[in-house]
Amino acid sequence: MPSENRYTAYDPWAWLYNQSEAHLALQNLMPLLEKLLLPRLPENGQILDLCCGTGQVSQQLILKGYHVTGLDGSEKMLHYARENAPQGKFVLEDARSFEFSPTFDAVISTDSSLNHIMSLDELKQVFRNVYGALKNQGLFLFDLGLEDRYRNIKIDNGELHPEYAWTVGETYDRENKTGTFTITLFQPNSQVQPNSQVQPNSQTQPSSQNLKPKAANSGTLMQLKCFFYNRVLRPLHPSVLLQLVDKDWLPSTLMFSVKPYAKQDVQTALEEVGFTQVAIYDFRGNVSAPNNTQSAYFVACKSAD
Ligand SMILES: C[S@@+](CC[C@H](N)C(=O)[O-])C[C@H]1O[C@@H](n2cnc3c(N)ncnc32)[C@H](O)[C@@H]1O
Repeated sequence: MPSENRYTAYDPWAWLYNQSEAHLALQNLMPLLEKLLLPRLPENGQILDLCCGTGQVSQQLILKGYHVTGLDGSEKMLHYARENAPQGKFVLEDARSFEFSPTFDAVISTDSSLNHIMSLDELKQVFRNVYGALKNQGLFLFDLGLEDRYRNIKIDNGELHPEYAWTVGETYDRENKTGTFTITLFQPNSQVQPNSQVQPNSQTQPSSQNLKPKAANSGTLMQLKCFFYNRVLRPLHPSVLLQLVDKDWLPSTLMFSVKPYAKQDVQTALEEVGFTQVAIYDFRGNVSAPNNTQSAYFVACKSAD
């Protein structure tokens, strides 16, 4: 991808994603891959990790003996991916426009990455690209947030650390059917402009620094506060974090747009591209019930010519 055209919107999230959400997402994901995908792949098969982010999923697959190529549009995400999965091969490409010859036994795309594709037409183009990259009988597994996944909630999750804290909140615009995540990083002595915003899907390099803390504060009281918030309060009252964050810490924010999709629309798009045996599962890996409109895993097969 020519560097001036590359997709930079996710660069400022890379440091924080690598520290936090990538690990949280991984805990739930690996059992699902073990259940829905890996038993159907050849030993040492080739896997494309589409929108691979910071590479933790790629690394887990490499440890299981697979050959993994990671693709992402953010150079900064790939920087961490190369560190986290040194045996992986990583490429800077846009999911909407990549073209690979049919060399993969499976393509995966996890942690709702494809909700960042903002229209069904573009999602279908991603499906075409994936279809072209798969060998015959190759499998495509991805998860998506569905119609009722996104809400209006000021703080949905967060973490407190001695050096920094972060929160994530979301809003949902029912009319335009578009969700927006707001990620806020609080940090002491920040060089980041307070309240600087990086607009979703911006194609320009943001003028603010990446979200990354600059200083440390590691007293025992602080460590206790962190432990109590992260282990006890967070699952019940994530917004309490705002009261615990040092008043001198400065916030910097990033916003990302996401698009929810309906199961039927996704299945139709997959079938129109040529995929067969489309199966839809819930987050436990059971067949998705008709009333599940929150999130789903899709598994589809490239049919033999
Ligand atoms: C939520 S992260 C998920 C990362 C990884 N799949 C995981 O499970 O940890 C979403 C990733 O999708 C990437 N992404 C979003 N839109 C993209 C696009 N059009 N082309 C390539 N990568 C994209 C972002 O750069 C980011 O790394």
